[in-house]
Amino acid sequence: MSPIAVSDRRTHSIACIPADGIGPEVISAGVEVLKAVAAADGTFDMTFEDYDWSSETYKKTGKYIPDGGLDSLKKHDAILFGAVGAPDVPDHISLWGLRLAICQPFQQYANVRPTKIFRGTQSPLRNATHGDLDWVIIRENSEGEYAGQGGRSHRGMPWEVATEVSIFTRHAVERLIRFAFETAQSRPRKHITVVTKSNAQRNGMVMWDDVAADVAKDFQDVTVEKMLVDAMTCRMVLQPKSLDTIVATNLHADILSDLAAALAGSIGIAPTSNLDPTRQNPSMFEPIHGSAFDITGKGVANPVGTFWTAAEMLKWLGEKEAAEVLLQCTEQVCENGIVTRDLGGSAGTVEVTKAVCEQIRKAYETKSKSKS
Ligand SMILES: NC(=O)c1ccc[n+]([C@@H]2O[C@H](COP(=O)([O-])OP(=O)(O)OC[C@H]3O[C@@H](n4cnc5c(N)ncnc54)[C@H](O)[C@@H]3O)[C@@H](O)[C@H]2O)c1
Repeated sequence: MSPIAVSDRRTHSIACIPADGIGPEVISAGVEVLKAVAAADGTFDMTFEDYDWSSETYKKTGKYIPDGGLDSLKKHDAILFGAVGAPDVPDHISLWGLRLAICQPFQQYANVRPTKIFRGTQSPLRNATHGDLDWVIIRENSEGEYAGQGGRSHRGMPWEVATEVSIFTRHAVERLIRFAFETAQSRPRKHITVVTKSNAQRNGMVMWDDVAADVAKDFQDVTVEKMLVDAMTCRMVLQPKSLDTIVATNLHADILSDLAAALAGSIGIAPTSNLDPTRQNPSMFEPIHGSAFDITGKGVANPVGTFWTAAEMLKWLGEKEAAEVLLQCTEQVCENGIVTRDLGGSAGTVEVTKAVCEQIRKAYETKSKSKS
């Protein structure tokens, strides 16, 4: 890579919210590899600002996000998020207090979850190897079952009532399904599976099917099929090669993407992008996993999900070449057998991180030799 004048460099400003459990461990690993890739690439810089918004902050101040916090986040080009959730805070408080309190006001309506079996890793599926499972799940991320509509009355009484109302608006469903078709169109197979539960849920889910059929007319080169979510779980396990792009509601895709991550080998490798496709607000990137209390502080958290997430973030920021290098190097380290115990190895978080940084340096050296 030829050196360029410092003033010509692009700078990407990243807000880091490591939050809880293994979040700080994987985010510091992610920042380390991002610094390594930016330094080796030499055409762009990254700045990182830490936000101490966690369950600890909540316990001290009563708030996850301080007043004016979202305005501070808006200054950044992207957000790198760890995980939120602590054993002594109810999960619905932590999720709504931090993660959803960013995703919803920032209209990060498209949640993108790619999955594949990395070289050097093993799927629990007997017949699936690298290349056999290569999916991207697009999850509606602004409403649906997580719209926050509902309530509880007569608490603690035998006649207590609780409602959890799913909200499906044509506006939100259409923008998400259109985004999913565009994703399918950009992939070699140009195939999309629209997942609903429109046999039992005859209003919102039937509207999803109607909207998908309308949007499909604008994407004649994309093949479309419909699946019910229950049947989809069997299809993912029994015929993984038959799937490519999958679009589903907030709840359905949340569940299917954890299954997808496990089928690819471990929840520790899967990434998530929470995108505002209009780019009016910063998008947020996070590994799919939670705060994993059982392994917190042990140095064994798999950082690969965060590295893949960081690669997705670079792609979103326009650094496609650096994103590709980061993903390839991460996969190469897995193939070299330097993996954490969830993938059957014995390496720790730090060892995997160092190996990926080293692989990045080597990759750029090879690139620059081949250019000179
Ligand atoms: N996006 C988020 O912030 C998010 C997502 C899911 C769960 N959570 C929260 O996290 C907490 C724990 O939830 P959970 O136990 O259901 O899910 P989890 O993802 O934290 O853990 C599930 C299992 O996977 C393992 N695991 C997860 N990430 C790993 C990694 N990087 N490397 C190796 N092993 C890993 C854990 O050790 C655990 O055995 C809860 O408070 C939950 O609400 C947060």
